[in-house]
Amino acid sequence: MTEEQAVTEEQAVTQGQAATGRLAAAGVTLAYGDRVVSAGLSIDVPDRAFTAVVGANACGKSTLLRSFARLLAPSAGQVSLDGRDVRDYKPKLIAREIGFLPQGLVAPENIAVRQLVARGRYPHQTLLSTWSREDERAVAGAMAAAGVSDLAERTVENLSGGQRQRVWVAMVLAQETPYLLLDEPTTFLDITHQYQLLALLARLRDEGRTVITVLHDINQACRFADHLIAMRDGRVVAEGAPADIVDTALIKEVFDLSCVIVPDPVTGTPMIVPDAAPD
Ligand SMILES: Nc1ncnc2c1ncn2[C@@H]1O[C@H](COP(=O)(O)OP(=O)(O)OP(=O)(O)O)[C@@H](O)[C@H]1O
Ligand SMILES: [Mg+2]
Repeated sequence: MTEEQAVTEEQAVTQGQAATGRLAAAGVTLAYGDRVVSAGLSIDVPDRAFTAVVGANACGKSTLLRSFARLLAPSAGQVSLDGRDVRDYKPKLIAREIGFLPQGLVAPENIAVRQLVARGRYPHQTLLSTWSREDERAVAGAMAAAGVSDLAERTVENLSGGQRQRVWVAMVLAQETPYLLLDEPTTFLDITHQYQLLALLARLRDEGRTVITVLHDINQACRFADHLIAMRDGRVVAEGAPADIVDTALIKEVFDLSCVIVPDPVTGTPMIVPDAAPD
């Protein structure tokens, strides 16, 4: 890519347009057996941007992320990285590109935090390679970034829900991939840790990573994301910069919720305030 192209893409991202990403879904149908979740879905993930996927429970957010992480093969269409089907890559090669934090992970029994985080280094190791200083640096850095350094020797299953969630985040960070796919990474976190994690993801984006995360807190999504993908019933209802796409009609369509929208007093981004209890 020439420098000129890079600048143009960056401008597109800051302006909230979807720059054509290296990671894309083209006409994909995603299904579990006979149950079709999405049909003919096309998404270009904007590179070096923070994308948030929002939508009601069961609308297909995790299913979409799992297809990007090639854990779910589309029954039609293609998920591609650099124009090549993700399923044509060796698993280790993909794991050096895409780090994925799924929902609801369960840690192996009796594993220490440091050991679990170290598993994130797997794609960087070869049969003959020994544990390197580079691996040590990555694991220590990831634990520090996720705020779990103090827990390094603890057993994962004995941690609180929020502590455990941050250990999983550290494992994905240790993978040091250009793409970070996170499915509800703020689950179980107290409000301070939620904002710390989102700020960390924004910093990684500033450093050039591509972040795609499912978030249930739409106000946090509006604050942190450059690009919002709003889904309903397996379809993309709208995508773009939060300020460009979020209005009361969209919230009604996506969440079936009546609301008022005010500027977030801190950032000026859209802030959704429900105006009544939903039926
Ligand atoms: N392994 C599976 N087998 C069969 N159906 C599934 C499976 N996983 C998910 N589904 C169904 O696919 C649909 C989409 O699920 P998905 O997990 O993608 O939703 P989601 O948007 O991530 O929801 P949530 O906000 O609750 O996490 C749902 O109807 C769900 O019941
Ligand atoms: Mg989900």
